[in-house]
Amino acid sequence: MLYVLDTANIDRIRECIEYYPVDGVTTNPTIISKENSNFPALIKGIREVIGPDRMLHIQTTEQTADKIIKEAVQLKEFVGGDFYIKIPITADGLKATSALKKMGIKVTETAIFTQQQALIAARAGADFVAPYVNRLDNIVSDGVNVVVEIVSLLKSNCCDTKVLAASFKTVEQVHKISLAGTHAVTMTPEFFKTLIYHPMTLYAIDDFMADWQNAYGEKKISDLLK
Ligand code: E4P
Repeated sequence: MLYVLDTANIDRIRECIEYYPVDGVTTNPTIISKENSNFPALIKGIREVIGPDRMLHIQTTEQTADKIIKEAVQLKEFVGGDFYIKIPITADGLKATSALKKMGIKVTETAIFTQQQALIAARAGADFVAPYVNRLDNIVSDGVNVVVEIVSLLKSNCCDTKVLAASFKTVEQVHKISLAGTHAVTMTPEFFKTLIYHPMTLYAIDDFMADWQNAYGEKKISDLLK
């Protein structure tokens, strides 16, 4: 499963890339607006930090097919590297998706809340569909189950489209969708860190260190091998 950062904060992206296996960055207009900074410099900065080979998904701000296409072409040229235009699923979004695929521009169909939205986006040629797990849970739907069914539908329809699950609040949500074979997840850097946290791990490390110190004091392996 690919791990993607859902943020436009360059410092947090840089920090996460240093420590974690990060496959790319996703943004949306809300995420971009939080940085309150010069947009071209921000997206160029993200590309510089993540390099050309990691995915960068940037969402369109247009709502008609012609304008979405124009914006996608501009963004791809400007930001370079492994670029995906994120397009919310609408009739115009689907029209733009088909056209952009023919032009060789990769598309992530976003704001997906139902299985049929995902399947139709896949038929239009989307590379990724991005269902919102926690936002579904918040309206007393079952976000995990929607993702599980989308993964299964895409497989049984032999689509190349992959699932980039988004909007998480709990580790259990991520765990359950990963069991279903979801291809990628996007999450905030803060939430990413919670995926590796476990108090038992910290206790285990403390025990190892205490036992070592009892035997060898402050000497480390490198001191003993000198
Ligand atoms: C990503 O594509 C989505 O825009 C984002 O993950 C939504 O997450 P939220 O529900 O936490 O805002």
